[in-house]
Amino acid sequence: MSGTISLFEAYNRTAYPLVGHGKRNIQVLKDVLSELDGKMESDVYGSGELIEDFQNKIAKFLGKEAAVFFPSGTMAQQIAMRIWSEKKGIKRVAYHPLCHLEIHEEEGLKHLHGIESLLLADKTRLIQLEDVLNMDTNISCLLLELPQREIGGELPSYEELEAISAFCREKGIILHLDGARLLEVLPYYEKSAEQICSLFDSVYISFYKGIGGIAGAILAGHEAFVKESVIWKRRHGGDLISLYPYVLSADHFFMQRQDRFQQYYEGAKELAGLYNDCQGTTTRPVVPVSNMFHIHFSLPKAKLEPVLVAVYEETGVGFITRLNHIDDETSYCEVNIGDQFASIPKEVIHQAFHVLNQKLQEALQEK
Ligand SMILES: Cc1ncc(COP(=O)(O)O)c(C=O)c1O
Repeated sequence: MSGTISLFEAYNRTAYPLVGHGKRNIQVLKDVLSELDGKMESDVYGSGELIEDFQNKIAKFLGKEAAVFFPSGTMAQQIAMRIWSEKKGIKRVAYHPLCHLEIHEEEGLKHLHGIESLLLADKTRLIQLEDVLNMDTNISCLLLELPQREIGGELPSYEELEAISAFCREKGIILHLDGARLLEVLPYYEKSAEQICSLFDSVYISFYKGIGGIAGAILAGHEAFVKESVIWKRRHGGDLISLYPYVLSADHFFMQRQDRFQQYYEGAKELAGLYNDCQGTTTRPVVPVSNMFHIHFSLPKAKLEPVLVAVYEETGVGFITRLNHIDDETSYCEVNIGDQFASIPKEVIHQAFHVLNQKLQEALQEK
């Protein structure tokens, strides 16, 4: 059967999928709702206990005065950039060239808000203190993403973050955190969310990545900032009459998984080590600093996919769901560790890696 089905299909058929929490099917919502009293009042246009209690809980967790729930991080962050640009009277913000706003939002910042971007560093590395010290400071806001997803989830040191934060405060530049994966980086920093967020003026976190909810985001900061963001949420049509399926799933999985991120981080380090022992395979970072990393293969996508499908079918272990083309010689993918990894017997994983390594060696020899 190898080669006739897609990598994603083959992965979904395995008994031991290594990454994530499980399938993104509607059972996720059914599990959440099955525990709740059907008489619970829905939220209505951003009001009501259900949404307000959750916003307050997350504001407290992040150590911020207030927080507002958004259907998406895309909406939340563009709005944050808009508010800070108006406050400072400068329609320019700085961020990494592989920032979500730059590469995944169809230039929403420019088309919807007339805000320009100043790109710091380059696509191959993190923004460093030196980039910030030497940047054109005619910007309203600097956005940092922790971890920097598109380069494997790398992170600056905490000391570097502190220095960047101090510089921005001295220069009157707003510092915003794209913390889509904030919980994922806390074990590496050995800090609380509140400690990390204290370095930033505003923060966004996602509820469908490591937390594993359906969708949704929180934007947090000072009371006045959050008040304004509520107005912008309405202007954007993000103030749905009811957001409870998202809020309830966000709350449910936040409570269920908030203390598991150390486990995911340890799992990522273990799994990356196994990949790095395979031929023609390296991870970025070599030692992960969160629950995620990238795997770079010295084989092109078209050659590697059938090899992986064959390994999944032989071992029952699913390694990755998607492979990205780089060039005729190489390919890469992203890996995120969730609940599944720890539930798989170690001997099953080690045996599967043995098979993977063998098949990679054969494919590399044929190259
Ligand atoms: C780093 C980062 N920021 C922002 C977003 C946007 O989140 P949403 O999909 O909720 O719009 C994502 C989504 O993948 C992300 O990875």
